[in-house]
Amino acid sequence: MEIQWFPGHMAKTRKMMEENIALVDAVVEVVDARIPYSSKNPYLDELWKRRPRILALNKTDLADPAKTERWKAWYEAQGYGVVLLDALHGAGVSQIGPLARRLCQEKLKKEAERGRQERALRLMITGIPNVGKSTVINRIIGRKEAAKTGNKPGVTKAKQWIRLRGGIELLDTPGMLWPKFEDPRIGERIACIGSIKAENLDAYTVAVLLLGLLREEYGALLMERYKLTPEEMREDNERLLFCIGEHRGHRVSGGHIDWERTARVILDEFRNGKMGRITLEAPEDVEDAKENAGGEDTTVS
Ligand code: G4P
Repeated sequence: MEIQWFPGHMAKTRKMMEENIALVDAVVEVVDARIPYSSKNPYLDELWKRRPRILALNKTDLADPAKTERWKAWYEAQGYGVVLLDALHGAGVSQIGPLARRLCQEKLKKEAERGRQERALRLMITGIPNVGKSTVINRIIGRKEAAKTGNKPGVTKAKQWIRLRGGIELLDTPGMLWPKFEDPRIGERIACIGSIKAENLDAYTVAVLLLGLLREEYGALLMERYKLTPEEMREDNERLLFCIGEHRGHRVSGGHIDWERTARVILDEFRNGKMGRITLEAPEDVEDAKENAGGEDTTVS
C-alpha cells in the first residue's frame, strides 16, 4: 500500500501553511465525510493548537447521515466547531461565517477592550487534496457577494482576500495539506474514496479492500445492488468480487470474468454514491485503536 507524497511537497506545503496561518483568526479544515478521520491531517492541530478551528465535513450527500451526526458530536466534544456541508449543492456553507464569528468572539472582545478598531475576521480553508476545498470556497464566495480587497501590508502579492458579508475576509486560495500515512489502513480508505492516486494499488486491489470494509455494515446495500445471495455474501472478498462480475455479466472473450472491469464498476458506483450513502469509519474505531495502543495512538482500527 503506497500513496506517493514526496517530502519536498510536504516541506513546501508546511512552509506555505505556516505563512498563511499567521495571517488568520480561524482555520477551516475540510475533510471528506465518508472518512472524517483518515482525511484529516493532525499536523494542523499541532500548528494551530487550541485556537478557533472549524472542521467542515464535506460531501455529506455521499456519507451515512447517522454516522455523520456521530462524527459531528465526537469532534465537537474535542473543541472543534463543526459544520456539515454538501458543497456541490451549497448546503451548509452559509454556516461557516457565523460559526467562525462565534468561535472568535472572545478574541474580538479582548481586542475591543484594548481599544483596537473593529476589523474583519480572517479565515482560510485547508485540507488534503480533493476533499472539496475549492468547491467550498466558490460556494462561500457566490458571484455577486464577493469582492477582492487586494493586497494587505505584510501579505505577499499572490495572496488575495475576498470580502464576505458579516465582516469576514477569506483567503482566496486553499491551503493544501498532505494525507497522513502512519497507518496503512488510513491509506487504504483514502484509496477507496479515490481522492489520491495510490501508485501501487490497482483497481482490483482497492475494490477487494472496499468490499472488505463494506460487507459487515453495508452488506445489505451490496446484496441489493448486486443481487448477491446470503451464500455468496459468506464468500471471501475476492470471491465476492467474482460473484459481482458474474451477476453483472462482466466477461472477457473466452467467457472468463473481467476482474478489472468489475473492480472499476464497484469503485465507481461506491464513489458516485450509487450504492447508497456510506461512511467507511466510525468514531468508535478511533477510540478502540487508542485503547489498544494504551491511550497513546489515534490510528484507526
Ligand atoms: P480540492 O479543492 O479540495 O482539491 O477539491 P475540489 O473542490 O476540486 O473537489 C474535488 C471533487 O469533489 C470535485 O469533483 C467536486 O465537484 C467534488 N465535490 C466537492 N464537494 C462535494 C460535495 O459536497 N459532494 C459531492 N458529491 N462532491 C463534491 P470533480 O471535479 O468531478 O472531480 P473528480 O470527481 O474527478 O474528483
